[in-house]
Amino acid sequence: MTEQSPVTQAQAQPVKAAPALPDAQTVTQVKHYTDRLFSFRCTRPASMRFRSGEFVMIGLMGDPDPKTGKVKPLLRAYSIASPSWDEELEFYSIKVQDGPLTSKLQHIQPGDELILRPKPVGTLVHDALLPGKRLWFFATGTGFAPFASLLREPQTYEDYDEIVITHTCREAGELTYGAELIESLKDDELLGEVIGEGFWKKIRYYPTTTREESPKMGRITDLMRTGEAFTDLECTPLNPETDRAMICGNLAFNLELKEMLEAYGLEEGANSKPAHYVVEKAFLD
Ligand code: A2P
Repeated sequence: MTEQSPVTQAQAQPVKAAPALPDAQTVTQVKHYTDRLFSFRCTRPASMRFRSGEFVMIGLMGDPDPKTGKVKPLLRAYSIASPSWDEELEFYSIKVQDGPLTSKLQHIQPGDELILRPKPVGTLVHDALLPGKRLWFFATGTGFAPFASLLREPQTYEDYDEIVITHTCREAGELTYGAELIESLKDDELLGEVIGEGFWKKIRYYPTTTREESPKMGRITDLMRTGEAFTDLECTPLNPETDRAMICGNLAFNLELKEMLEAYGLEEGANSKPAHYVVEKAFLD
């Protein structure tokens, strides 16, 4: 029995320290954009593979149950905003003051731990689309996140001649994350090397706001219906022969845009049956 005592002592150690989170990763960077939006980066499990555009479950431990004192993980689906080749993971999140998770998550700091279940899934992936010439990314709010991943993915530029990204937000400050990311692509060494200098000229960026003055006001759906978006972008409306699309925003937006794309003749695809467009909802607290 004496042999057991060192083991018991060794096991006693972690009980005194703060309990380690299951599937813990360490936060490496946090950036706040508005009182409603922030992004953060964390370490990536060495064995975790994913396809740009997929999502994972992440979260924190919840508050202790008032009756039992037990704590349970509080997890939500988050699109991975970093590309599949990145050593770290990036996420872009809303802050909801009374949201079960984001009311806590918005206070994370570098060095803190969060829970990450390393099982990526999702429909906003290149594999779910048939080959095409022009790829449309339609986002509202934090729905930009999967496109932040795909815009940094070499395959996006290898597979398409043109990438149009539309982002509709309530206020101008909510466009900052996306605008900065797109601007940073001009200095992206990896993409420059793999795709060639000036690859970013394939991108057409169309940001709009609905509740605060900005250079382009209005919902993208309305701007497409009137034709104004196509005039501004100096391009033809969508066509199933050449256009592919990915949609990620709030539910009403997804449904409305889906209907519009179907009216242009595009058909919804999936991993198991690639077609012309795919949809995923932005996951809100
Ligand atoms: P609006 O301000 O006119 O509601 P939210 O923050 O509520 O998720 O909205 C993000 C953006 O998506 C807002 O600019 C909002 O416009 C816009 N939006 C909401 N519903 C739709 C829809 N059905 N079609 C297009 N844009 C929408």
